[in-house]
Amino acid sequence: MPVDLNNERPLAWDSATLNADTKAMLDNLQPNILRAHVREHLSVLFVRFNNVAEGRAFLRHIATTRMKSARKHLEEVREFAARGRPGTPYVGIGISKAGYIDLGHSLDEVRKFGDKVFRDGMKRRIAEVNDPAVDQWDWVYQREIHAVILIGDAEPESVAALREEIVAELPESARLLGEETGQGMRNPAGDGIEHFGYVDGRSQPLFLKDEVEREPRKRWDPAFPLANVLVPDPLAPNPVRHHGSYFVFRKLEQNVRAFKEIERDLADDLGLTGADRDRAGAMLVGRFKDGTPLTSKAKAGGGPVANDFTYDADDGSKCPFSGHVRKTNPRSFGREVIMARRGQTYGERVDDPSDDSPPEDRPSGDVGLLFMAFNSSLISQFEFTQQTWANNPDFENPATGHDPVIGQGDRDIKVALPKVWGKPEVSLPQAQVAQTVTMKGGEYFFAPSLAYLRNL
Ligand code: HEM
Repeated sequence: MPVDLNNERPLAWDSATLNADTKAMLDNLQPNILRAHVREHLSVLFVRFNNVAEGRAFLRHIATTRMKSARKHLEEVREFAARGRPGTPYVGIGISKAGYIDLGHSLDEVRKFGDKVFRDGMKRRIAEVNDPAVDQWDWVYQREIHAVILIGDAEPESVAALREEIVAELPESARLLGEETGQGMRNPAGDGIEHFGYVDGRSQPLFLKDEVEREPRKRWDPAFPLANVLVPDPLAPNPVRHHGSYFVFRKLEQNVRAFKEIERDLADDLGLTGADRDRAGAMLVGRFKDGTPLTSKAKAGGGPVANDFTYDADDGSKCPFSGHVRKTNPRSFGREVIMARRGQTYGERVDDPSDDSPPEDRPSGDVGLLFMAFNSSLISQFEFTQQTWANNPDFENPATGHDPVIGQGDRDIKVALPKVWGKPEVSLPQAQVAQTVTMKGGEYFFAPSLAYLRNL
């Protein structure tokens, strides 16, 4: 029976009754798509091939010697939980449209990829999402990238060693165009944070029964059908059994100093005092630094980071409609838009991102987020989120403003913000906060099935 991507019930991946096609799907799917792989340390390599036979041989070699399947990854996670046995490193591959052509595929074959945005590539989509001009991007992203190789693990040593080996295996004809290094950051509670200091990566679409069952889910259902991230791999030997996912990579630089100044000034403007000052930043993100959802609580704190909430009882007086997490997941509609985020922070810091140091001690560049996400459709998930939700000041309600974190484009309208949590009293209309996240480049890829890679 073909894999039912639209099944609303989360996948019981280790069930004895799993049908043969679903088993084959898991044996041929890359890890990190259905479930996040540990990638506390991450090396991201951008490659160009230039020779069909050598490019193919390289990918085939990496796939057969270094890459595990989604099922193997899930088994490793189970082993770790039961016996504390650490898993093996993650190696993932994404191929761009230009990469498929360079690997010898015809235009007709590439047209089998249903996603037009993937076939265009990121450089041709800047107008739609208000990205900076390509000549403003970091040099590596201005070039024609054929493939991305992700190497991730819990410790830096194994990632560095594997990176060395894979780079040494690149054929003469290929070029390593550039690379990024990601490194996780945690707050004192042990939760992963991004550079502005906020808990990140908490809200995810979950596809597997064991993951869903661990979540409180009275209000928000975290279970999503595989159709949110998987599509048949059109160039695989058997697309009924072999699946892949569209992968968006964007390097997003964060001006932490400017963001911290904005938090401070906003708290002053709204007359917030004492612990209530933290609400200024929470209004921008939609969660407090410790992850507490602003729609649920007026103050941070109170146990594990919650995700079982909606905005049904919030007219914008608790969490503004523009708050980053509200913009990017309104929760009462748009479930088909939700993608699997797999980002990682980059850049070294001398300050502690989770303390209360003043803005002047914060970095104003060279740190940020390697935004990565798996999609079944780039145009109706990543691009839709960026363009129709984040960049749109009238989304859900007129004149509520851009997403203050990731919104791109002129922030020319003025907005009013709640002065007291949950009360109708709002500020006078004021200029929107300045943009502090800058896109430095990226590309759209397809993460093919292992069956495709091993048969190259
Ligand atoms: C959630 C920060 C870029 C989409 C979050 C959260 C933080 C955050 C702190 C809350 C943690 C959570 O709920 O999991 C950032 C920063 C970014 C960035 C600092 C850039 C530097 C993006 C981009 C997109 C995006 C580019 C998509 C276009 C989302 C989504 C959620 C989220 C969908 C989960 C919302 C939910 O389900 O409640 N982000 N983010 N983020 N972000 Fe971002």
